[in-house]
Formats: sequence, structure tokens, C-alpha cells
Amino acid sequence: MKKGSVLVFGGAGYIGTHTVVELVGAGYGAVIADSLSNSEASAVEGVRRITGVDVPFEQVDACDEKALRGLFERYPFDAAIHFAAFKAVGESVDDPLKYYRNNLTSFMNLCSLMREFGRPDILFSSSATVYGEADVLPVTERSPRMPATSPYGKTKQVAEDILHDCCAAYAGMRGIALRYFNPIGAHPSALIGELPRGVPQNLVPYITQTAAGVRPCLSIFGNDYDTPDGTCLRDYIDVVDLARAHVAAVERMVQGRMKSSYEVFNIGTGRPVSVLELVEGFEKANSVEVPHKFAPRRAGDVPAVWADTELAAKELGWQAERPLEETLRTAWAWEKHLRGME
Ligand code: UD1
Repeated sequence: MKKGSVLVFGGAGYIGTHTVVELVGAGYGAVIADSLSNSEASAVEGVRRITGVDVPFEQVDACDEKALRGLFERYPFDAAIHFAAFKAVGESVDDPLKYYRNNLTSFMNLCSLMREFGRPDILFSSSATVYGEADVLPVTERSPRMPATSPYGKTKQVAEDILHDCCAAYAGMRGIALRYFNPIGAHPSALIGELPRGVPQNLVPYITQTAAGVRPCLSIFGNDYDTPDGTCLRDYIDVVDLARAHVAAVERMVQGRMKSSYEVFNIGTGRPVSVLELVEGFEKANSVEVPHKFAPRRAGDVPAVWADTELAAKELGWQAERPLEETLRTAWAWEKHLRGME
């Protein structure tokens, strides 16, 4: 018997697809809604192949209130997850309205329809970016949020505030924000993974494309930070582990186990890894070379950030499980699959 069903906005994207796979694996029904503005219909096929379930897919832009309402009328889901946001930091600086409009309109539409239709449970995809350059590491959920350094980061903070305020104001409404650290890797089947368009901005897709010969050389941005090897420290979280955190959060909401109407959890491994360690770890795990050189610091990068994961372990019963080496193997398997290299 199904445990309940979840409407997944942005369900054809990188984290969305992996989450749908884990939800279905855990016995939930799922509906994928996605505008395909930054994802591909083939990702939905990947989900269906992995799960063996013909997961319904609706091509809908969550900014289109009327179309969204149609979904609420057609599907009797219990909870909704919002992944339907743009996430390129640099682009958000160049075109802030694109980010405010898409990331916030879609989220407000979702909240207001959830309220209208009496569907209480909303899971929001937030980011460690809300902590900015933290004074104390690792960051806990009580660490202060710092002023955002990009419109993208601001949309995460504002959407968190919207959810907080709605859950405080509207009786019965419940929300959880998951603050992801650096999601990487792919499903072990290599049927779904990250699909960056154009030149990748994030580290791991740049590494995999360099290893595949698509990019000649990886630039490591900065080797003069105050860190053990001079490169930045991040908390790289396997995307399947991250997807499972969503299942744990949905379960907490629908089973009525929340301690207050709005909760926030860090989703990371709790382990800082330097850029250089990650590059070398990738080379070792996959027996492949990644040509790299040191380059100047990238504007806006924080030297170090990693998660305190105690709260997620205690309250969600969730912790990251996959060793980094295995995650880096899945990232390479996915790149090879995309390039038809095997
Ligand atoms: C970035 C965003 C963050 C967002 C996340 C979404 C910034 C400042 N932060 O996180 O807000 O939530 O993506 O996925 O953009 N690096 C290289 N060479 C590269 C690419 C990256 O050395 O070609 C380094 C970066 O300097 C950084 C680390 O790798 O130290 C990780 O970078 P990235 O994958 O872009 O993630 P974040 O910057 O942590």
C-alpha cells in the first residue's frame, strides 16, 4: 500500500529526479512537475527505468498559477517538494529579476495553493549559501544567516522566510527547509545525474568534463586560503544520500512528528574536504587524470563551510552514508554514460 503521495516541483532536475527515485523506493507515490526550462524529459525516463514505475509527469511552470491549480485539482497528493528554482550564482547577479521572479513566484504560488487546498506539508530546497562566511565552523542550524552575496542566495533566504511566516500564520501549515551543502555524484545506475548546460559552474561537473576531455584543464580557484592546503573547504554530499534526507523529512511531516510548524535541517556529511583533495580523490577513485592548475580566487567564494549534522541525525534519523570515493565513481560513471564512453 502507498504511504502517501508527493508532488515534486522541479522533479526532472538533478536533485528532484534522485528524490523521486528514493520516494518511490520508500513506498510513496510521486508526481513530477517540471517546466523543463533547465532539465530534460529524458531524466523522467531515467526515473521510470530505475523505479519500474510509470511516474506521472506534468510539464508545468510553477510560476503559472492557473496551470498549477490544475495539478492541485487532478492529484490528491499529501505533501509537496519545491526544487523548481534556478541556481547559477553568476547568472543571478547579471539578471536578478529572472531569479526573483522564478524562484519566489513559483514558491509563493505553491504555498498559497497548498493553503487553499488544505494540503499542509511543504518541503523547501534551501542551501548552505544562507550561512555566507560563517564565523564559527561547522555551522549549526542556529548559526546566524549572513547577508546574501547574490540574488540567488537571497531567494533562498526569502523563500525560507516565506515558509516560516506561512507556517506561523496559517493553522495546520507545516514546512521543512533542508539546507544542502554541496550535492555531488549520481545514481549508481548511471541513468540519472546532473545535466549542466554550457560550461559547468560547479566543481564536480567541471572535473568530470575535464576527465572526459571536453574541457582541457580545471582551474582551481585560489590556493592561498587559510586552510590546510590553501584551497577552499566544502562539505560534499552524495546526491542519493541527499535524496534520502527528503524522504526522511516527508515522513516526519506526514506522520505528524514535527516539533514546531517550521523546521530547518543541515544536510551534509559534517566532513570538510578541500578542492585539491576532491580532485585527487576523483583521480584515484577512477584511475583517470584531471589536468588542473591553480587560478585566482573566484569572487564571492567563502574559504570554508561545512555542516554540523547532529540535528538531522537526531530528529530526522538521517545521516550521509556513501563514502566519498564511491560518490566520485558515480560522478564519473554518469559523465561516461552521457558521452557514450562505455
Ligand atoms: C555554489 C554556490 C552556492 C550554491 C551552489 C549550488 C557560489 C559562491 N556558491 O557553491 O551558493 O548553493 O553552488 O550548487 O557560487 N571550484 C574550482 N574550480 C571550478 C569550480 C569550482 O576551484 O571550476 C571551487 C570553488 O572555488 C569552491 C569549490 O570548488 O571552492 C566548490 O565550488 P562549487 O561547486 O561552485 O560550489 P560552491 O561555490 O560551494
